[in-house]
Amino acid sequence: MGRKAKTAFITGITGQDGSYLAELLLKKGYRVCGLLRRNSNPSYGSAAHLRSEVEFFLGDLADPACLSMYLAEVKPDEIYNLAAQSQVHESWSQPLATADQTGLGALRIFEAVRNVLPQARVYQASTSELYGDTTVVPQDEETPFHPVNPYAAAKALAHFDAQIYRKSFGLFISTGILFNHESPRRSPDFVTRKVSLAVAAIKLGLKGARIPLGQGGIPVINKDRKLELGNLDAKRDWGFAGDYVEAMWMILQHDKPDDFVVATGETHSVRDLCESAFSVAGLKWKDRVVINKKWIRPTETGPLVGNYTKIRKALGWKPKVKFEDLVNMMVQADLAKLR
Ligand code: NAP
Ligand code: GDD
Repeated sequence: MGRKAKTAFITGITGQDGSYLAELLLKKGYRVCGLLRRNSNPSYGSAAHLRSEVEFFLGDLADPACLSMYLAEVKPDEIYNLAAQSQVHESWSQPLATADQTGLGALRIFEAVRNVLPQARVYQASTSELYGDTTVVPQDEETPFHPVNPYAAAKALAHFDAQIYRKSFGLFISTGILFNHESPRRSPDFVTRKVSLAVAAIKLGLKGARIPLGQGGIPVINKDRKLELGNLDAKRDWGFAGDYVEAMWMILQHDKPDDFVVATGETHSVRDLCESAFSVAGLKWKDRVVINKKWIRPTETGPLVGNYTKIRKALGWKPKVKFEDLVNMMVQADLAKLR
């Protein structure tokens, strides 16, 4: 008799990471279940192509009753808590919703696990935003946290509760402190996708209603056919989401629960990102990018760059896709999509 297939329960399955993780787990033979928010117009987001393979459960991280009910019903071996209000800029406009979904939402999952399914393994999506305005470079698992926005504060609550529930109740809760990771499935609310969509729209000469909507539902290029950005000096460690969901899975296969930094070890500025992305399309970024104060944040993070030695040594994980290849992948995907 072969071994019973494992079952995974993913919150945030309609998002970028949730969809890549679901694909990975399906390939590995898992039964994949996902929490789906009710919407007046049903939307499966980035997981739409997996509709026939994934079992969806209508619910919300705001509702502890549905979380306990689904864990009791599905009895997953592994739970990946990826759901969150994940946009940093937006967390200043929606601080309470962010604290509730991103912070308390994780705590509700941990409580449901403690009460209903204490043997399950849990992955909590922690973030390099926890390091905030750190001056330590690069950052690793021992680097102190200095959150500087409501999103990071909410993630800090979730991160510390993950560690507290692990120590106090002996639960298998691991965290991945993931640095920025991107893909053609990234929401245009984030700078990489905002840039790749704008490059494609400019290159293809799109006009009027054909210009895709970007951050905050605003067209990705303005009336002068320029891309409006905030802080070009901000520095991030950008990797590929497909590589990072493999790290999530590996973290839950480890023999003990722990915390791991997942990063590329390289940092680039938003200016570098613009230069690379526009050059993929044979364009000069300086002619096309303007600063709009609207996108400058009250406080800035970083420079973020992660040291992934611990996960490399313990689990053999390392990033495969380099920055230039990631940018090329995203611009090519948007050119193909908008064409
Ligand atoms: P994302 O694309 O923004 O996806 C967020 C997901 O959370 C969506 O499926 C969303 O559902 C769901 N969600 C939000 N609030 C919810 C609620 N109250 N109940 C149920 N579902 C809810 O995020 P991502 O980039 O895939 O990131 C996944 C996780 O990793 C997030 O927790 C993020 O904070 C964290 N993280 C991301 C990065 C990164 O660079 N991508 C780095 C570090 C950590 P809808 O589709 O219904 O909105
Ligand atoms: N979104 C956005 N839009 N960011 C801009 C813009 C703009 O027009 N102009 C400059 N930036 C700068 C931001 O100030 C920030 O320093 C950087 O680009 C990256 O911003 P985002 O792409 O929005 O990502 P983030 O770093 O704030 O957050 C992402 O990564 C975190 C991990 O460090 C999200 O995925 C978080 O959920 C995640 O935890």
